[in-house]
Amino acid sequence: MKTRLGPINVMYPTPVVLIGAHVGGRPNFITIAHVGIVTVGTPNCISLGMGKIHYTNQGIHENQTFSVNIPTENLVVETDYCGLVTGKNTDKSQVFDVFYGQLDTAPLIAQCPLNMECRLYDVVDFPDHDLFIGEIVETHADPAVLTDGVVDLTKLKPLLFDMATKAYFGVGGHVARAWNVGKQLKKKS
Ligand SMILES: Cc1cc2nc3c(=O)[nH]c(=O)nc-3n(C[C@H](O)[C@H](O)[C@H](O)COP(=O)(O)O)c2cc1C
Repeated sequence: MKTRLGPINVMYPTPVVLIGAHVGGRPNFITIAHVGIVTVGTPNCISLGMGKIHYTNQGIHENQTFSVNIPTENLVVETDYCGLVTGKNTDKSQVFDVFYGQLDTAPLIAQCPLNMECRLYDVVDFPDHDLFIGEIVETHADPAVLTDGVVDLTKLKPLLFDMATKAYFGVGGHVARAWNVGKQLKKKS
């Protein structure tokens, strides 16, 4: 018999990302774990579930742009910091080295090996949350995390977030190949 937990969300772990936006003309960064892939193709969209109380939301609404930066295990302290303090009373613009790509209001973090520039595609207006949907317009990668031109998870070492223990985890090992391992259950024709 399984234990009933009530309608709680157990869809963890999730990746942890640092969202960059310009607020009041300067870069601000927020730590977000409620991030998802909405569409793959054209448009290529990402979603962010962000409480309306956050300072960063103002900048995304104002400039219609944001960045998604993938922090790695060695950036766990800075990542946690950006989720502990608010840009309303703390200047987070100096925590990282910043660079820009195509969008001049989507600050990208040099220390993160992967960065995506996003243009706001839509906002779903929940009572307490903005569900921001952003279209990826460019992606930047540190060659050190690539193998044959694609992102290599074993080199990346991204951070995962677990709500139950409120802790960061690393990624475990390879289990099996997708669209492949299940073939053994296909009926032989
Ligand atoms: C690990 C972690 C994950 C978080 N994930 C989210 C999230 O998905 N959505 C959200 O609204 N806030 C999330 N937060 C809280 C914000 O990052 C935090 O309130 C931040 O200080 C807001 O910054 P800002 O006011 O400068 O925008 C998270 C915090 C941490 C530490």
